[in-house]
This record gives sequence, structure tokens and C-alpha cells, in this order.
Amino acid sequence: MCGIFGYLNYRVPRTRKEIFLTLIKGLQRLEYRGYDSAGIAVDGPGKDQTADIRLFKKKGKVKALDEEIYKSDSIDLNAELDTHFGIAHTRWATHGEPSAVNSHPQRSDKNNEFVVIHNGIITNYKELKKYLVSKGYEFESDTDTEVIPKLTKYLYDNRESDYVSFSTLVERVIKQLEGAFALVFKSVHFPGEAVATRRGSPLLIGVRCQYELSTEQIPVQYNRGDSRKDELQEKNFRNRVGSTNALHSVHDRMAVEFYFASDASAIIEHTNKVIYLEDDDVAVVMEGKLYVHRIKPKAGEDPVRAIQTLQIELQQIMKGKFKAFMQKEIFEQPESVFNTMRGRICFESNKVLLGGLSDHLKEIKRCRRLIMIGCGTSYHAGLATRQILEELTELPVMVELASDFLDRITPVFRDDVCFFISQSGETADTLMALRYCKQRGALTVGITNTVGSSICRETDCGVHINAGPEVGVASTKAYTSQFVSLIMFGLIMSEDRLSLQSRRLEIINGLQKLPELIKEVLALDDKIKGITEELHHQRSLLVMGRGYNYATCLEGALKIKEITYMHSEGIMAGELKHGPLALIDKHMPVIMIMMRDACYNKCQNALQQVTARQGRPIILCCQDDPEISTMAYKTIELPQTVDCLQGILSVIPLQLVSFHLAVLRGYDVDFPRNLAKSVTVE
Ligand code: M6R
Repeated sequence: MCGIFGYLNYRVPRTRKEIFLTLIKGLQRLEYRGYDSAGIAVDGPGKDQTADIRLFKKKGKVKALDEEIYKSDSIDLNAELDTHFGIAHTRWATHGEPSAVNSHPQRSDKNNEFVVIHNGIITNYKELKKYLVSKGYEFESDTDTEVIPKLTKYLYDNRESDYVSFSTLVERVIKQLEGAFALVFKSVHFPGEAVATRRGSPLLIGVRCQYELSTEQIPVQYNRGDSRKDELQEKNFRNRVGSTNALHSVHDRMAVEFYFASDASAIIEHTNKVIYLEDDDVAVVMEGKLYVHRIKPKAGEDPVRAIQTLQIELQQIMKGKFKAFMQKEIFEQPESVFNTMRGRICFESNKVLLGGLSDHLKEIKRCRRLIMIGCGTSYHAGLATRQILEELTELPVMVELASDFLDRITPVFRDDVCFFISQSGETADTLMALRYCKQRGALTVGITNTVGSSICRETDCGVHINAGPEVGVASTKAYTSQFVSLIMFGLIMSEDRLSLQSRRLEIINGLQKLPELIKEVLALDDKIKGITEELHHQRSLLVMGRGYNYATCLEGALKIKEITYMHSEGIMAGELKHGPLALIDKHMPVIMIMMRDACYNKCQNALQQVTARQGRPIILCCQDDPEISTMAYKTIELPQTVDCLQGILSVIPLQLVSFHLAVLRGYDVDFPRNLAKSVTVE
């Protein structure tokens, strides 16, 4: 998905080369989100005392953009700029093919008077474009974004008085926009100023200055409108020295740097002090001060934007000794699963505590139904835990794909509790479903990995899965941590049920041993790699299982198709004779999951059906299972754990299978084609 990065240095002299390095580095930190082109806007040398903006845009990798910049001899890289604002963007095509002209920044005109970077989709862009074309504006790209800088210029050219502030202009622009956006604006008319705003797409601003920022809060300014009077007030406001409405009010003329990004990973190496913008905030940096404006207050909203301290470390998002982030993240699972449980399960007293749910537990226990909502891997985490949640909560549990849930206009009631499972916390479909359920009065619970994300902030309560940053587009450690978080929720719901105490104890003991068992599974990596060497030329790979391991099949098949581009299907073994059996012959590669649980005998039937058609499946089974080894072409033997936790162990070989297949087939594991890490469009 697209990525935004901006860098403003105020009274911090930087050469143009240093500025480019910062912008390029910012884009590289966002590469994991997936993109197909990239671009940058910086100040040029200017002519006749007027500012000018230079654009560099390129299809393909950030590296290609970087090379493009150094090819240009029209710009002095050694020139030192005391104050400067540069913007940069990675684009993932939605409207218009990947190309330089469609990449961002998009511009208002050939002179680049206004340039804009955008994440999200403008749904009314056709109407706006038609209007602007009728006013003589010429469009050069196929993007929805291009209407934004053109509309900004139109409003600037048609302003009522000589003076209009940059933020007022942007407020007027966003009033006309429908859809989702995070936007950062730069203009030759407002040199050294930055304006950023969002609606439905995340945006945060990092601040680095000479003194220690701790608990500063930025008051939000309201009631600024379009009238001339407001503009005069704005002008006075702009001229006021030491205004109490801005960050750094008492540090006038202080050197300061601001970083704008759609994602904390681009900011963390510069500063851990950030503010998260809310929908319809318009943040402006002028003369080194940061202000947050809103058109009007909403009932009950927070009148300040607090500086928050990011907890992630840069090395947490670096690759280390691994070939790919995905591989690193697979191998982190003993630790990430432990971190999910840390401080929440006391293995001495067998008590489980989820602080984020405590205040709402009574209400949750009184509910009539649990609805688990997510997309992709996060949906599979809901599916993987449904059976045990039904058993431990004694409630009906529905598991829903967010997009389908919305398409069906599913009935939701006040006594429903709806869970929104999302690694990024920004997935548009899941976020829409959350808003839908909130409107209908249901209690909403977030299961996310990203503190401060939209889902985190908009749910009534939640559990942070604490898996650590997940960079690889293919989700791995987030899945196992979501799984464990939902199991812990089930344990809390059943703490008072006498009849369930021995089951709870069995699960808690199983959870305690889990990190060690995961290490045992990871030790099979070489064997698994060997198996993939025989498979990587195949076109298709079926994954079969049932019961607790059906979700594992779906998740394994998703991993395989996502990064190896092979056709792969997760098949419910009970459905085999209802259709998929027709696919089986001696050439069709099959992986079967056959763990020692209540479905074992039924899985054996499925195995018979496959082998009777000359299928030679690779079987994931429990260690030393004599009944299996004779029938399998190959086995991957896993340690046995409690039935409802087995899916955490059985998914790992499939994660490794997909990783090795992708490497053998020569694909970029972390950046699969056509996919993005965080899907912030519907
Ligand atoms: O960030 P989320 O968990 O909400 O993302 C949902 C899906 O887009 C995501 O799980 C996707 O399916 C993964 N790339 C699969 O590996």
C-alpha cells in the first residue's frame, strides 16, 4: 500500500544531499508496505527570488528513484538549506498503471505550485476532475489524487483576499473530498511550511528538537472558517510570537525537525516522540511551530493532541542475520508468543489477566454472541480459535470476513460483542466493519499488533498482541500471537466455570510449554527445505485437514499462493468426496495435516481416499505415529500439544514451506507482487 514520508528541518542546516538521504531512507522504511513506484519533491534553487519545487519520480524500486536523483545535474546537492520541507511517497497503483506520471507527488500545474502526496482513495474524483477541467485545468495522470493539488491551486487562484493561509486552503480542499486520505502538501507560495491532514488513513508526525519532549500537548484550534474575518485572525495568529496554541511556544526560534509518515517505522530512527493525527485534523508547521486545526469540534472529542513516546526500536524492524523479514519473523515465534503471554498468565497460580478487557469483562460475559471479524490471516486466527472459544465461553461464535460481513449488511445487536482482529490495525475493510458494529451499539474489542492504530483507538477495549513489528507482507508471527491472545480470552471467560477447570488447566500448561515446542518445530527447517526442493517446480499444492487444523490449511495455502505464486488451496478433509477428490492423482502434490485429536480417525479416511487414487501426500503428523509413516510419501513430525493449541505448531512448517518455495522460485519474499502489507483501501 502507499507510504507517506515528509521531512522538515527548521533552523537545522542540511545540505540537499542530506535531505535526499533522509527522504530516501524514509521511503525504504516504508517499502515493506508494498509499492510499484516512488517520488520526491524538494525545493529547487529558485529564480528571480521566487521559490521553485523540483520533482523526481520513477516507476519501480526506491533504489531506482535514488539513482535518478544523482543523475540530475540541474540541482546542487551540496547547497546548504537552513529551513526546508521535502516530501516523498511510495505508490501502490489503484487508479492508473504504475508509471512515473502516475506516481506521487502529484502537482497542480507545470510550475509545481502545489504538490501533494496521498494515501487512500478519493471517491468523488471524477466529479471534481470534470469541474476543474471545465475551469481550464489540464490533467496529466490517471490518478484520483491529481484533483487535490489542482483543486488547491484553483482555490488559491480564486481566493477572496490577498492573504490566505496554507492550512485554511487545505481545510477548504478537504471539505470537497470524499473517500479516505492521508495527505501532505507543499507549495511554492508557502516556502518552509508543511500542511498534513487525514481522514480514514493513518498519519503521524515525529518531532525532534534540542530539549527533552515529555508530556507536551498541542491544543486543537477550532472555529476557523472561510470568512475574511477568520483570515485576518489567522494572519494575526501567524504573527503572534509565543502563541500558547503551538508546540514549542516557549521555545521560539528554536531549531527543530519534523517527520511526517503514514507509519512509525519511517520515523523511529529519528525520534520516538510523535503525535497521531485524528480524522479531519489539519496540522500545519510554520516557522518551526506545529499547530493542529479542526473545522469544528465533535461532541466528546479530546481537545488536545498529546505527544506520545513510541516503544519500538529500530533493530526490531531490521532483518538481522536472516535472508528476509518473513524468515526472521517465523524464527521469532518462540519469543513473540512468549511476549503475548508475558505478564498476562501467571503459571504458578494459573490465573489469566487481560488488562485491556478488565473494565468490560462483566458486559462481555453477559453477551449473547461473539463475532470475530478480520481479513486474510487475521480472519484465519478467528477461525482457528472458534471451536475452543465456543467450548470455553459456551456462546455462539461467528467468524466473519470483514468485506463479506459488510456486503451482507449482517444483523448486529446491542448485546453482541464484536472482535476486530488485525495485525496492522488499519485494514480498511475491518475498520469499516468496526464502525458498522459501533453504530449498531455492539461492544467492540480490538485484537491488534499496532499501538495507536485506528482499530486500537476506535474500539471500546482490546488486547494488544505484543508480537513486535511485523514487516514481511506475509503475516506469520502475528497469526500465532493472535491465536494465543484469543485463547487467553477464552480462559478468562471460563475462569468461573467449575466444569471447565481441568480443561483450562490443560490449556494453561500447554501454553507454558509452547515456546519450547515452537523451537522444536523450527529445528525441522532443514528437513522442510529439502522437501520444498522437490516441490518448487509444481504448479499447484493442496493442503488438507479438518477440525482444529482446518484453519491451518487455509492459512498455509494463503501463505503459499501469496509469496510463491503457486496455486494452492486449503481443503476441509470432510469435503474431499464432495468435489476436491477429483483433483487427486499421482501428480498432484498434497500436504495433509493429521494430528492426534478427535478428528484423527476421520483424517485417516481422507488419507485412504487420497492414497487409493495414487496420491502420495506429505503428512504433518505427531512424532512417532506408526500408523502414518507407511502411508506417507514424506512426513514432517511435530511435537504434540493440547488439541486446541496444535494449530500454532502445525502452521509453522507451512510458513517455512512457503518461504523456501518462494526463495527457490526466485521471488522477493517480503514484497510479493500486487500485494501490500497494510491494506488501507476497501
Ligand atoms: O493487518 P491485518 O491483519 O488487518 O491484515 C489483514 C490481511 O490483509 C493480511 O492478514 C493478509 O492476508 C496477509 N498478507 C497474509 O499473509
